[in-house]
Amino acid sequence: MNLILLGAPGAGKGTQAERIVAKYGIPQISTGDMLREAVAKGTELGKKAKEYMDRGELVPDEVVIGIVKERIAQPDCEKGFILDGFPRTINQAEALDKMLEEMGKKIDAVINVSVPEDEIIKRIVNRRTCKNCKAVYHLIYNPPKEEGKCDKCGGELYQRDDDKEETVKERLKVYKSQTEPLIEYYSKKGLVYNVDGTKSIDEVFKQIEEILDKLG
Ligand code: AP5
Ligand code: ZN
Repeated sequence: MNLILLGAPGAGKGTQAERIVAKYGIPQISTGDMLREAVAKGTELGKKAKEYMDRGELVPDEVVIGIVKERIAQPDCEKGFILDGFPRTINQAEALDKMLEEMGKKIDAVINVSVPEDEIIKRIVNRRTCKNCKAVYHLIYNPPKEEGKCDKCGGELYQRDDDKEETVKERLKVYKSQTEPLIEYYSKKGLVYNVDGTKSIDEVFKQIEEILDKLG
């Protein structure tokens, strides 16, 4: 099963991807996580990416396309994968079509998680992420059992640099102009399944399970 999770920043893509990984056993490919890892390691790519990320802008297509191409070719992606945060531009979507065709693969479903803007800002400013395993928490909606500590691995929780309200607003603008057109791109291919992202984390996952179980 090859899936794309589409949705605005903070819609809950990462949260739902964690659940899909746990139930269906296919890996999550989060370009955001991969870029943040490069930033943390201080690689050349990370230094370049950080400038864009801190402004709430997209990292150039060729950089992200290269990372995804390498990742999808790994053996653990043979049984399927969940793309989280990629593609984000029409150019990236076309590059993805091309690389999958070359590998004899295709996308089975695009799950579009929708949440209104005011709710998104509330979600992002209270988000905390595990430094170690990348698990995602929310101080109010999904708090860790022990303050500042990851339930899963005991890792330290931190707030992302791009989660300040001003940067979030810029990310939302970028989403509207560059990423939202992908809904139409994939609708034309008959691949889009809409999910109401305003429901609780469990209820959103139930909607996704129904879609995936029908796909078989
Ligand atoms: P990326 O890391 O992909 O961030 P994003 O798309 O902005 O998405 P988020 O991670 O912010 O949100 P999410 O939808 O995963 O929500 P989450 O589950 O955490 O990208 C960051 C940057 O990297 C970009 O700005 C760009 O610069 C660069 N980049 C990445 N990919 C790129 C690409 N392809 N091309 C170019 N540049 C790229 O949930 C949010 C919060 O809400 C959490 O606290 C969670 O606990 C809570 N929550 C989730 N679901 C619910 C619910 N149902 N009810 C209540 N609370 C909930
Ligand atoms: Zn952790």
